Amino acid sequence: MAKYPKKQSGSLRVIFLGDVVGRPGREVVTRRLRELKASSSADLAIVNGENAAGGAGIDAGTALEIKSAGADVVTLGDHAFQRKGVVDFLQKNSDWCIRPYNLPEATTPGKGHCVWRSKDGVIVHIMNFMGRVFMGGSIDCPFRGIDKLLGEISSDGPALTICDMHAEATSEKWAMGRHTDGRLSLLVGTHTHVQTSDAQILPGGTGFITDLGMTGSQTGVIGMDSSVALRRFLSPTPAPYQIAEGEGIAHGIIADLDRESGKTVWIELLREE
Ligand SMILES: [Fe+2]
Ligand SMILES: [Fe+2]
Repeated sequence: MAKYPKKQSGSLRVIFLGDVVGRPGREVVTRRLRELKASSSADLAIVNGENAAGGAGIDAGTALEIKSAGADVVTLGDHAFQRKGVVDFLQKNSDWCIRPYNLPEATTPGKGHCVWRSKDGVIVHIMNFMGRVFMGGSIDCPFRGIDKLLGEISSDGPALTICDMHAEATSEKWAMGRHTDGRLSLLVGTHTHVQTSDAQILPGGTGFITDLGMTGSQTGVIGMDSSVALRRFLSPTPAPYQIAEGEGIAHGIIADLDRESGKTVWIELLREE
């Protein structure tokens, strides 16, 4: 028996995987995503890849590895610009690999929004935002930012809309859920690397989860080797992160988005080894 129910008629099925952490994360994406898309009849796969390269950032090689494993779109987060060469890569591949939208407009390379089209013509706007609570850096207001972007998108005609809200605070992600309910098709939180159990459809029809969780090894501390992570908490001396060993697990959601209404009609937690 198939693990997931049959796709709801008239809907587009989306898989969204949480932060891919290092090699164990990339390997589980390569091992499972294409087969999972086929067995669940998913149309679109989106993957947060902000920790894909060595646990912090992404580069051309790791981004293309995730893409060739079946990801249609890759979103990022606070580590977006950590790796060498990524600026050039994001400039050239902004149609499928996006960084947070609400970064200083004049000085941030790449794009925070892209458009994906299904073979039968469904248009999906995918966007990446970053929260400001407990997050460092020059981040513009995500609430005003999404209002601006949704305003621009709505003038382009009917489409589905999916947002990755990369943020630390559960409250900020829930506030964004309330703020965009009925305006976004699907809003997923990323960044904490711990999957929350609150996948649901909000009253206005927006599919929502506070955090997708992590795609990586669960033997350490949110994807990183335990001994190094502990040393960083227990001692003031520097201890560079290392990736936790062991096979990766993919965490995320799978959801059906109604093509006509633009609302989520079904959403479920995803956990695949
Ligand atoms: Fe992050
Ligand atoms: Fe992350």
